[in-house]
Amino acid sequence: MSIVAAVEFAEKNKARFVEELKALLRIPSISTDPERVGDVRRAAEFVAAELTRIGMENVRLIETTSASHANGHPLVYADWLHAAPKADGAAAATVLCYGHYDVQPAEPLDEWKSPPFEPTERDGNIYARGAVDDKGQMWMHVKALESLFAADGGRLPVNVRVIVEGEEEVGGEGIAAFVREHGDVLKADVALVSDTEMFAADLPTLCVGLRGMIYTEIEARGARTDLHSGMYGGAAPNPFVALAQVIAKLKDVDGKILIPGFYDKVATPTDAELKAWKALPFDEEHYRETEVGSVALTGEAGYSVLERTWARPTVDVHGMPGGFIGAGAKTVIPAKAVAKVSMRLVPDMTPAESFAQYKAYVESLTPKGIVLEVRMIHSGDPIVVSTDNPYVKAATDAMHEVFGKETVFVRGGGSIPIVGDFVRELKIPTVMMGFGLPDDNLHAPNEKFHLANFYRGIESIVRFLSGVGA
Ligand code: BES
Ligand code: MN
Ligand code: MN
Repeated sequence: MSIVAAVEFAEKNKARFVEELKALLRIPSISTDPERVGDVRRAAEFVAAELTRIGMENVRLIETTSASHANGHPLVYADWLHAAPKADGAAAATVLCYGHYDVQPAEPLDEWKSPPFEPTERDGNIYARGAVDDKGQMWMHVKALESLFAADGGRLPVNVRVIVEGEEEVGGEGIAAFVREHGDVLKADVALVSDTEMFAADLPTLCVGLRGMIYTEIEARGARTDLHSGMYGGAAPNPFVALAQVIAKLKDVDGKILIPGFYDKVATPTDAELKAWKALPFDEEHYRETEVGSVALTGEAGYSVLERTWARPTVDVHGMPGGFIGAGAKTVIPAKAVAKVSMRLVPDMTPAESFAQYKAYVESLTPKGIVLEVRMIHSGDPIVVSTDNPYVKAATDAMHEVFGKETVFVRGGGSIPIVGDFVRELKIPTVMMGFGLPDDNLHAPNEKFHLANFYRGIESIVRFLSGVGA
C-alpha cells in the first residue's frame, strides 16, 4: 500500500516541505530583470539539488539562449525511468512534470504587507512572490515524488521526467526551442502542469484551455530631444499624446477590439462547454467586489465574464515608460515614449497573424509628426487540451480521493506558452491540475499560496502518479 505510505510521509513531513519552499521563495528569481540572472540561476540550482537528493537521476541544468533578453535562463531536467511494467505486461507510462521557478517582478513594493522575498505565514497562507506562481506548485511535484520514493524504497510507480523552466514569465523562448530541437529528451505519454487555479476554494479543477498572447511595445518618437513645453508646446509633437490617441483606437467603449480582421479566427466554445460554464458557481457581483474591486466590470457586450476572460481575445496596456515620472512637476515634451501593450489570443488565432494585423493597424494610425515602431517582445499560442484520455480520468479520480468532490473543467485566461508545444511538438495530452485560488494575487502584491492547497496538491499528485502507473 505505497499510496497510503506516501500520503503518510507527506503528512508527517509537511512542515519541512514548507520550510524548504520558503528557502526557494527567498531567492528573487525574477526572469525579466537582467540584474537577477545570478539569482535566477541560484533558484535553478536549488531545484536541481533537491531533485538529486530525493532520488531523481540524470539531473542537470540545460542552458538556453534568448533573443529577447540578455541571457537565457537554464532549464532543470531530471528523470527516473525504472518503473515496473503494468499488471497486463504493458510498458510503464512516462509522466512529464512541468513547472517554472522564475517569478514576476514584485513591484509595487510598498503594497506588500510582508516583503515579497521574505516568505511569511499568515492565516494558513504563505505570502511571497512566487508562492503559488509557480514555485509552490512546482514544489508540490517535487514533494510528491519525494513521498513516493520514500514510500517504496526509492522507486516510483511510474516513469517520470521533470522539466522546470526559468523563463515562463518572459515568454518561455528557451524551453520552446529545446522542445523543438530535442523533443526526444522529453519523450513521455502525458505532461502534468500545476500552474493554474482552482475555480473556487475546495473545488477540484482541471484547466483545459489557456489563452495565448502577444506582448508588444509601441515606441513613439517626436522631437530630436526633450523640449521645454512652454517654448515648444503647440508646435512640437508629443509622443505620449500620440500613444494615447493610438491606444484609444484599439478598443471601442463597448470593449470590442477594432483591429481589422482580429476576430476572424476566433472559435466559439462548444455548446457543451458554454453550458458547463453556466453551471459553475460564479457570482459576478462577488467577483467584481472581492477579486477585481472596481466600481464596475468592463468588456465586450454580449458575453459573460467567463467567456470574456477565457474565450475572447483582449487588449491591455501595462505601462508607458518615458517622460517625467518623478515627484512634483517638470515641464517637458519628451522626445520619445513607449507603451507596453499585450493581447490575449484564443483558439484558433495565431500570434503571427494577429501581430501582423495589429502592427499594420497601429502604423495606419500614426499621428502627424510621430514615428512609430511596433515590436513583438514575446508570444505564445492559445490552446485547448483534450479531456478524452485516461490521464484526465486518473486526475479526476485522484482529486476525488482528496477533495471528495467531482472535478470541474474550466479554461484559464492566462497563458503558459509551452503547453501548446507539448501538445503540438511532443504530441502528448497535458493535464493542468492547479491548486491556486482566485484570490491568490498572482503577479500582484501579497501573492500567497493557501497551505491547505499545497498539501492537497501534493496528495493529489501522489495519487495521480500512482493512478497513471497502475
Ligand atoms: N501561471 C500563469 C498562467 C495562468 C494563471 C494560467 C492563472 C491560468 C490561470 C503563468 O505563470 C503566467 O503568468 N503566464 C504569463 C505568460 C506570459 C508572460 C507569456 C501570463 O499569462 O501573463
Ligand atoms: Mn505560472
Ligand atoms: Mn505567472
